[in-house]
Amino acid sequence: MKSRLVNFQQHGDKRGMLVALESNKEIPFAIKRVYYLYDTKIGVHRGFHAHKSLEQILICISGECCIHLDDGKETQEVILNKPYEGLYIANDIWREMYNFSSNAVLLVLASELYNEADYIRDYKEFLQSVNQEENT
Ligand code: TYD
Repeated sequence: MKSRLVNFQQHGDKRGMLVALESNKEIPFAIKRVYYLYDTKIGVHRGFHAHKSLEQILICISGECCIHLDDGKETQEVILNKPYEGLYIANDIWREMYNFSSNAVLLVLASELYNEADYIRDYKEFLQSVNQEENT
């Protein structure tokens, strides 16, 4: 599975905590876009797509949520609930986000600008595309 949890360095003192993230340092790509999900309603599942080339780091900077990952061969469930922990997701990984706590803020750092053409939103098409790549 081309995904991994990354622990970021925490700068802490008696005032509290701080995490700093820079392109091509803590984040393994140049950050071109930042977005975040918040006020996600109870029971909502979202995502349901893979990306052809986009890489992302997901950080639940407040609260908790779960991420379902699927590379066409194996699946993995990841709980994100630490503001100093990032989930790196490479291209060609199907993801779904669920179990958002009411205070969850899911921050996403992305390697590309928003481009609908980079999305695969059909699960069957995703399986075909990863299997095709394997046979080339
Ligand atoms: P959507 O792709 O449905 O989010 P998710 O995959 O997390 O379920 O995106 C919701 C809306 O936000 C949709 O109208 C597209 C828009 N959007 C942008 O304009 N820019 C972005 O960077 C993203 C991620 C979404």
